[in-house]
Amino acid sequence: MNEEKELNIKVNPTSNTAITTFIMLANAHYEKALEILEQMGVEKEKIFHGVDREDMINRPSDIVRELRYVALNRTIEESGFKTLMDLPCGYTPKVFEFTEKGMQYIGCDLPAVINDFAPIIASMTDDEQKKQIRFQVVDVTNYESMKAAADLADGPVCIATEGLTVYLTSEETRQLSVNIRRILSEKGGCWLNADVETLDYYMAVFKAVAGDRAMELLLAARKGFSGQSDTDMHKNKASVIKESKGTLATDYEKIEALYRSRGLLVEKVPYYRDDLKLQLFDAMTDEEIEKLKENTKHVNVWKITVDPDFKEKESNDTKSSSETAIDPDLPFEVKSALNNGLLEISIQGRMDTITAPELLKQFQEAGEGITDIHIDVSRMAYVSSAGLRVLLIMYKSLEDKDKFEITGVNETVREIMETTGFDQFLLNT
Ligand SMILES: C[S@@+](CC[C@H](N)C(=O)[O-])C[C@H]1O[C@@H](n2cnc3c(N)ncnc32)[C@H](O)[C@@H]1O
Repeated sequence: MNEEKELNIKVNPTSNTAITTFIMLANAHYEKALEILEQMGVEKEKIFHGVDREDMINRPSDIVRELRYVALNRTIEESGFKTLMDLPCGYTPKVFEFTEKGMQYIGCDLPAVINDFAPIIASMTDDEQKKQIRFQVVDVTNYESMKAAADLADGPVCIATEGLTVYLTSEETRQLSVNIRRILSEKGGCWLNADVETLDYYMAVFKAVAGDRAMELLLAARKGFSGQSDTDMHKNKASVIKESKGTLATDYEKIEALYRSRGLLVEKVPYYRDDLKLQLFDAMTDEEIEKLKENTKHVNVWKITVDPDFKEKESNDTKSSSETAIDPDLPFEVKSALNNGLLEISIQGRMDTITAPELLKQFQEAGEGITDIHIDVSRMAYVSSAGLRVLLIMYKSLEDKDKFEITGVNETVREIMETTGFDQFLLNT
């Protein structure tokens, strides 16, 4: 792995999950997914776990993955928009599915994924196809990066999201919806979010194949999946998952109200259609297929659009209380100096997945022998969980944790640290 990719993955390990979900789709034998896998130089034999009918963890998980892919793709097509903004794209065969249907495709993801995936697709497409395809590094918490992606489209955009929000904190999810609202207000279009009902599409499949054991097996599958990133899945209040006595449920009314308070309207589009068909039906019994069809009638992709009557100032949720304290447009900058074991750092601007690798790089270049770290964040406008992760790496590197000091913490940054629990490590005041 090259140095840049290593830094990017350390800063945000959720990039790793892109490969996993992609391989699950390849397991459902999507031709283009198999071709992408080949281009990636992955040895298929090592990766494929095959679809074993007795396997009550991997088989339903693969079916879940394909179900979501099929349902979302159909909803994208039905939206009628000419440009798909795939957010986040991972390593997806969607790029081929939609360019073949005549749409423009904008693949958006974190740097670790885009730097890998864009050249793969470039090597698989001719000049005509390339005209329809763009890639953009995007951190969904970073409006400028989202806008740069959306501006690659001539007109309205259909933003499609699958497999993202479980990896975001509540604050990051809030930023995502606020950013999407701004994009849709400027460009027009819609946001198709297949993630809101994650728990229910998982249950639709697990109940079809495992009956009463569905919840137990789903929890076991979820445990395996969480291991792929250090993000604590489902801690996100925006997916409002209530967990009690081994059962889970999502509070949809609360989520819809949150969207409304951010100027967004929700329409629910069912996963089910009469002609619902999955490649993995081959790996299911007739009875399982019938149950799955029945169960998916209650699961929806959320189609989200801008509420034209929304008045920004009425909402107290589109901005965090002190968001304007530091100019959010300050360019990101890290300055560091090492003197007699003391590493002094000052950070300016937004520290997120796109910018945080620079801090990690400077820290690593400072080398061994650091005994004290002092960080001035008085000009830091925002920090995402990726930025917090880098601060934690630095904190953990010190033998004497009392020698780690952050000064100039403004209200926005303090709020983020408190809601994520990082304040306990990083702030000693
Ligand atoms: C489980 S994968 C899903 C990828 C793709 N949508 C699919 O279904 O195959 C999660 C993706 O979210 C991306 N991701 C995580 N946090 C992100 C953020 N803050 N901004 C943009 N992408 C992010 C990861 O890089 C990863 O590609």
